[in-house]
Amino acid sequence: MGNGSTEPHCLAESDIEKEIHSNFAREVKQYVHHFTVSAKLWMPDLMKQYTELQLELLAINSLLKTMFPDSPFCAFTMNMGPRTVCLGHRDFWNLVYGTCPIGALGPFNHRTGGHIILHEPKLIIEFRRGDVIFVPSGAVTHENVPISEGEVRYSFTMYTPGGLFRYAWCGMQTVKDLRKKDASLYARYIGEGAGRWEDGWRRYSTIDDLISRAQGSMEAK
Ligand SMILES: [Fe+2]
Repeated sequence: MGNGSTEPHCLAESDIEKEIHSNFAREVKQYVHHFTVSAKLWMPDLMKQYTELQLELLAINSLLKTMFPDSPFCAFTMNMGPRTVCLGHRDFWNLVYGTCPIGALGPFNHRTGGHIILHEPKLIIEFRRGDVIFVPSGAVTHENVPISEGEVRYSFTMYTPGGLFRYAWCGMQTVKDLRKKDASLYARYIGEGAGRWEDGWRRYSTIDDLISRAQGSMEAK
């Protein structure tokens, strides 16, 4: 979604790209599984919303497919560097209260470089190769510290564009189409914005929530 698309679609691939992509997906399958399990463990309610969105989209268009079927995220970016550094930014195309797993691969010395900087919470975090962090990347400005000459740092991130959620919230059409076709539904969509914002942030679990949920499921057994 984005760049003028009027409906969700898979990016066009040539035969050779298809082969490269499927080889790549096979290589990183376990790595992505680590992202998936971590996301569902720590943010079950938020990930439920991501998963439900995917199911709704797959249900209306059988041509859509997911590269990583058990992942709640619809898209990913792999940056092969070889010395990946990002300047401070927010990912405005992502769901604003949503989350984005960021993983780093190396080798690099995590004590001297590659730290993740989160501006609004004022955090600088040592980030080793193999680590994964979940960041609300549309809402929190993030960047990372350069690494030294001769070191290597790749990054792998996953996300779901906010446009896909908007498409579903507008009844499987773009906001532009909804505004043109149905003024009252459009007014309702706009009116629900503040509530969606509040609901979104409430979907993040606290440690107490997770513990009581785990205790509840143990007692039920
Ligand atoms: Fe980002």
